[in-house]
Amino acid sequence: MKLLVCGGAGFMGSHFIKYILATYPDYEVVNFDKLTYAGNLENLREVENNPRYTFVRGDICDKAAVEDVIRENNIEAIVNYAAETHVDRSIMDPDAFLRTDILGTFNLLEATKNFNLTKMVQISTDEVYGSIEAGSFTEESPFSPNSPYSAAKAGGDHLCRAYFVTYKTPVVVTHSCNFYGTNQYPEKLIPFFITNLIEGKKVPLYGDGKNVREWIHTSDHCKAVDVLLHKAAPGEVYNIGSGQELENIELTNMILSEMGFGGDMIEPVRDRPGHDRRYSIDWSKLKKDFGWHPEKDFKAGLRETIKWYKNNPNWWQPLKSGEHREYFKKQYTEKA
Ligand code: NAD
Ligand code: TYD
Repeated sequence: MKLLVCGGAGFMGSHFIKYILATYPDYEVVNFDKLTYAGNLENLREVENNPRYTFVRGDICDKAAVEDVIRENNIEAIVNYAAETHVDRSIMDPDAFLRTDILGTFNLLEATKNFNLTKMVQISTDEVYGSIEAGSFTEESPFSPNSPYSAAKAGGDHLCRAYFVTYKTPVVVTHSCNFYGTNQYPEKLIPFFITNLIEGKKVPLYGDGKNVREWIHTSDHCKAVDVLLHKAAPGEVYNIGSGQELENIELTNMILSEMGFGGDMIEPVRDRPGHDRRYSIDWSKLKKDFGWHPEKDFKAGLRETIKWYKNNPNWWQPLKSGEHREYFKKQYTEKA
């Protein structure tokens, strides 16, 4: 198969490219990525000379560029990871979120339709469902997004549904819980806290720290997307979860104790505006239809992740200095 992975220089997209090249010896992958602040070709060093891998710099909002890359590489299917992804940035500056997460998705759907591709997998988030106090979101739960990020992702997902219903475009949408693992940009909770601690800095915990997130390891997510790319019926929607729910304060304490620090390294800061209280995903459909289930033990995965950030300062230090430092200055660091 000739696969176009959009946003393949980011965190999960780069894991997926490496996974596909290793798992399918006859597959060819084209990575189409704009290289925003979150795109990093260092993530793909180990495959950059692989003859079955090609990188093309481009923007999914640029219709002509999307058509060119598909035509020139005889692309058969798309997996779309390209998005603006960080909630805090969407609160400060939503513009790019609306363009990439809605208009960019629209361009990929148009291309999937017009080039008669066999499948488009749209990687989306549980955040489109909003916040849930008890129980878990199923694929039938209504969308109720609360941040500009989740609203933009929901817009893209609605377009996917409309393209299947109207044109029978073969698109499959995933709604996943929070990812964790190596190579994650150090603005998200886990890598931000780990790298702060390595630098001897405190970790800013929003609000009362009791917001709940569900965490899935990169390896489990790649396997789920593999199954959906090959087996899911067009028009279907699948939740991808792990059952590994933690309050932020519990997760922070796990990171602190794993790294040999105490609670004095927690800096309570003012809460994120519109902060969703709890996400929880029912992924029984994915298990029932294909037998997929998460395999990675959370504590082991977290320990490996911490070790990777300790061993790879050259990867993350430049991302917290220079031009990137301006962002971290704007993060919510006001004392609670
Ligand atoms: P990321 O922020 O690490 O990487 C995004 C990638 O997309 C970057 O390489 C960036 O350069 C590229 N990109 C951004 N705008 C682009 C554009 N207009 N054209 C082409 N490329 C562009 O992302 P991630 O955290 O790996 O998330 C990947 C996908 O998974 C996203 O769609 C996100 O909404 C979804 N998701 C993420 C999480 C999570 O916990 N990170 C959870 C659920 C779903
Ligand atoms: P994040 O990694 O930004 O993912 P998302 O908001 O998409 O779930 O944040 C995870 C949780 O951690 C969320 O409840 C917000 C909280 N958080 C903090 O308490 N402090 C921080 O510095 C960050 C980045 C997040």
